[in-house]
Amino acid sequence: MEKEIDEKKQGTSLVLEQKEENTKKLFIESYGCAMNFSDSEIVASILTEQGYNTTQNLEEADLVLVNTCSIRDKAEQTVRKRLEKYNAVKRSINPGMKVGVLGCMAERLKSQFLEEEKIVDMVVGPDAYKDLPNLLKEVEEGRDAINVILSKDETYGDISPVRLQSNGINAFVSITRGCDNMCTFCVVPFTRGRERSREPQSILEEIKDLWERGFKEITLLGQNVDSYLWYGGGLKKDFEKATEMQKATAVDFAQLLDMCAVQFPKMRFRFSTSNPQDMHEEVLHVIAKHDNICNYIHLPVQSGSTRILQEMNRQHTREEYMALVDKIKAIIPGCSISQDMITGFPTETEEDHQDTLSLMEYVEYDFGYMFAYSERPGTLAARKMEDDVPEEVKKRRLQEVVDLQQELSHRRTSRFLNQTVEVLIEKESKRSDAHWSGRNSENMVTVFPKGDYKPGDFVLVKVNDCTTATLIGEAVGYSNMQN
Ligand code: SAH
Ligand code: F3S
Repeated sequence: MEKEIDEKKQGTSLVLEQKEENTKKLFIESYGCAMNFSDSEIVASILTEQGYNTTQNLEEADLVLVNTCSIRDKAEQTVRKRLEKYNAVKRSINPGMKVGVLGCMAERLKSQFLEEEKIVDMVVGPDAYKDLPNLLKEVEEGRDAINVILSKDETYGDISPVRLQSNGINAFVSITRGCDNMCTFCVVPFTRGRERSREPQSILEEIKDLWERGFKEITLLGQNVDSYLWYGGGLKKDFEKATEMQKATAVDFAQLLDMCAVQFPKMRFRFSTSNPQDMHEEVLHVIAKHDNICNYIHLPVQSGSTRILQEMNRQHTREEYMALVDKIKAIIPGCSISQDMITGFPTETEEDHQDTLSLMEYVEYDFGYMFAYSERPGTLAARKMEDDVPEEVKKRRLQEVVDLQQELSHRRTSRFLNQTVEVLIEKESKRSDAHWSGRNSENMVTVFPKGDYKPGDFVLVKVNDCTTATLIGEAVGYSNMQN
């Protein structure tokens, strides 16, 4: 769901409404974070105006685009395999097919793609999608095309994304692009550029449009949403130079969230991702104040050891993080908290690893997304530190972290037993066509017998059983979020 890297979604090809006058066929597939999936909707929207309809059949595509992820080596290897597959199709069935690489790998590897991977005709970085019509013209005339220029102000706020393969209920809305944090392990600041925020008005207009089309839940998206700041445009880092007037009328994340919740009282809101260093108390009060903002915070920590946090250039200690968690629990009782964790960062000792496990116990995370450290070329860690934790140690520590999370998750689901929770129905349960599946405010998947309810309904569900990941119950009526 709003996990950065949703394994189930990886490589999904996207299909949208067909325009009759469009004659060319676009096959677009996406890897990586929610932001990439959201960007693909912007790309498809731009290409609809260029005569393309989407297809799920690679063999018949005139243009194949792959939106790529560089976060870990494995993500890049997956994309390389896909490029081989396109190559095979191009050679054997569809010689006229053009192939473009979008997203973070395009930005990271730049012209290397055109030179080395002969299959690739076009390379387009995450801030260059508006240049696609020009780049396509180049390609159609037989030339390679590349634009990997990162922008200081592009937010695509003026492009209305088409919703690809949408259930018509949940939608992502981007509010910031890029990241200024420079965590030493992370490639994102290099592939997605400086942090910039999107104008509140364009965010609210996009939500209004989604509301009018029947959507019920919005996830506000950014690498670091708590750092959102609009003061008339420009980079976050230049805020100090803003005029007094700009400063006085600036909108921060707490205010943006409040505006969303007030203007759309029957729309449910989530957001992702929160960086602990930028999460302020004000946001917690806004969440507590509004029933339509979910009690769920994805709060990646990466490690429980202050020394490792410092090496990672995360701007907080273990104790500061714990204090923030205490504050969340005090202001938003029962709030779900989830983590991202990296095991085997350079110099990580057994003691550091134990600190990670004990921090997890302290927080009692509801979910987690856990990874073994993967050195990324160009990052500070790659340049300055030796990747010195043996692979098998990284893997063993990862397994311990995963096992502990499993245990914590079970503890966390069982706290809902015999309680009544509010669920937004999203789809049929995978296990049974007699059950609906949705999530409660705390982001727990909840299933229950269908009754007369339908997807998009807000329903109160009495929970009478649970697994580590799922609540099982019975509907007892509509909630007051129901229209
Ligand atoms: N901006 C978001 C997402 C960053 S990428 C945030 O601040 O959380 C998503 C997750 O991938 C990170 O939180 C981290 O846990 C993991 N990750 C990033 N770089 C990594 C690397 N080099 N090796 C292993 N995991 C990594
Ligand atoms: Fe990466 Fe750290 Fe930003 S994990 S996306 S540099 S907050």
